[in-house]
Amino acid sequence: MQARDDKSAAAVLDALRNRRTSRDYEDRDVPRAVIEDMLEAARWAPNHRNTEPWRIFVLERGGAKRDETANLIAEWTYENVKNPAPGRRENSAESIRQEVLSAPCFIYVYSRPGPTEEVTRENYAATCCAIQNMQLAAYAHGVAVGWSTGRPIKPARLAETLGADASWTAAGALYAGYPKSFPSVKRRPVDEIARWL
Ligand SMILES: Cc1cc2nc3c(=O)[nH]c(=O)nc-3n(C[C@H](O)[C@H](O)[C@H](O)COP(=O)(O)O)c2cc1C
Repeated sequence: MQARDDKSAAAVLDALRNRRTSRDYEDRDVPRAVIEDMLEAARWAPNHRNTEPWRIFVLERGGAKRDETANLIAEWTYENVKNPAPGRRENSAESIRQEVLSAPCFIYVYSRPGPTEEVTRENYAATCCAIQNMQLAAYAHGVAVGWSTGRPIKPARLAETLGADASWTAAGALYAGYPKSFPSVKRRPVDEIARWL
């Protein structure tokens, strides 16, 4: 591998440092070419034993699968939110239904299991690397991603609805769009997380 020139190195480091999560988007479509770059980036994630364990479903805005999935997530939310007041539960369910329907881009990423627990764990790690590659590719185009392992991946009938194998694990639902705002984030300084021995 050749050393990068200063400009390429700066671009990579900028993406690593400045990519941020957002789920607050402009009402503007993410062009198909941007989504294709995200999928291409996913393919090049590191993966042990060349398992390429990631499987990805892009749910087009306005499409039947997006609608079906939003309904499943809303149902799950209604059944599972802690608040006992039915009105509050309806509001939570409707709010996530609208969030899923309106996201400019909405993607599921699954990880296939391996023949042993060790390989399954490696595959899951590789799939998470693929998701980060997708987030960085999105960043390159000014698009922000919101990675969720919450309500969107909980419904029991999700895999069947998407056509995912029942043995696969959902590593995340990715909302994406041109960001309007970002939550503030902090990180610990390097000397709190790393030791040179
Ligand atoms: C495995 C994983 C699961 C996540 N799941 C959620 C989630 O369910 N809901 C959410 O709001 N954010 C979720 N996030 C996003 C994190 O909250 C976010 O990365 C964190 O706040 C740091 O912000 P940054 O991505 O801008 O650095 C998840 C991130 C990762 C890596």
